[in-house]
Amino acid sequence: MRPSPPRLFFRNAAQLITLAGPPIPRRGVELGELGIIPRGGLLTQGETILRVGTTRSLEREALRVRAELMDCQGRVVMPGFVDSHTHLIFADSRVNDYELRLHGKTYEEIARGGGGIQSSAQKIAKASILSLAQQAARFLDQFVAHGTTTVEVKSGYGLDIAQELKILRVIPMLQTGQALELVPTLLALHALPSDFRGRSAQYVEDVVTRLIPAVAKQKLAEFIDCFCDRGAFSVEDCRRVFAAGREFELTPRIHAEQLSRTGAARLGVRCGAASADHLDKLLPADIRALAQSNVVATLLPGANFHLGLKQYPPARKLITAGAAVALATDFNPGTSPTVNMQFITSLACTQMRMTPAEAIAASTINGAWALRRAARIGSLEARKQADLIVLDVDDYREIPYYFAVNHCVMTVKRGRIVYSRVG
Ligand code: NIG
Ligand code: FE
Repeated sequence: MRPSPPRLFFRNAAQLITLAGPPIPRRGVELGELGIIPRGGLLTQGETILRVGTTRSLEREALRVRAELMDCQGRVVMPGFVDSHTHLIFADSRVNDYELRLHGKTYEEIARGGGGIQSSAQKIAKASILSLAQQAARFLDQFVAHGTTTVEVKSGYGLDIAQELKILRVIPMLQTGQALELVPTLLALHALPSDFRGRSAQYVEDVVTRLIPAVAKQKLAEFIDCFCDRGAFSVEDCRRVFAAGREFELTPRIHAEQLSRTGAARLGVRCGAASADHLDKLLPADIRALAQSNVVATLLPGANFHLGLKQYPPARKLITAGAAVALATDFNPGTSPTVNMQFITSLACTQMRMTPAEAIAASTINGAWALRRAARIGSLEARKQADLIVLDVDDYREIPYYFAVNHCVMTVKRGRIVYSRVG
């Protein structure tokens, strides 16, 4: 067994962003309440947080238990980012698609021409499991360096049972030997493979009768996702797949209303999905339905940015209506090749008019709700896991404000320092 991590005393944080609060997702004005302790301190014990308070109030106890001193020198300390939507495992970038878009082609035109998800699937089929793991591990190092401590990982570039299983098997391989917590999701319906053209019912049938049972039997996923959209799969196809997933205790989450309004968000509500993600094309009734549900409305402005769209998801309307809003990177080679949650907070503020406080809560505690882990991660409170980051700013609003740079100087996962560039 690994030895327990040393006791650490983080002292002299200009702001300790606790996000402490009642055990429910943050909605409305509560999304902007960060629970800041000025001149804050935090004491760990093993993998968990022992105490949180002002530096002064913890000094004596830290001395008594002989905790190692971590002087934060007036920086900001906050929970590690919880990135609740990524497509981490792919074989290659899609820089060609990127350049085609810069010349005026749309994402959907490129997909119809055999680029897009289909081209990622062709490359996955040729890649070895080891090379996929090696590339993903390099990206995970970047996630850690940018302050992310938990990452959801979707399959979805397999488009075939053997390939999907191959992708999902990479996740436990990655989990051994690196610190981040990975949350596996079977992205069961992503794109119709070309050899099933005109036979989508047959493909869905295969997913239901073969892929889902195989994934469940090998315990390779916790969640099940579908891309429910124009040019992807219908509400009825996705409903069927979610019902099949339920039989195997796979919790639904859904790519909803990204390219067109299909009713996918309402399907998410009806199926008790953990989250509905993207949500660019919501109708007012969809916003009301989400607000009255426990489905976390996860916005992915990195995709809008990378696709060069002028329109972003209606964050303000969702927050005002009372939806539980989260933010994530959507890290993937087609629409959002970024690992950087700090930059996502900049996009959320500048493009969607979220406040810096709302963006931080949406990236931590509400991301934890979206992954059904909020009892353990997403805030800095006694008895929760010691997942925290130190950022080289003295006011949390500078995190989105000084955009597109990495402010993270230390990442702590389960009480262990897993990244540090503190001098
Ligand atoms: O979340 N929308 C579907 N899936 C991804 C993009 C996949 C791709 O283009 O490779 C997304 O944006
Ligand atoms: Fe996605």
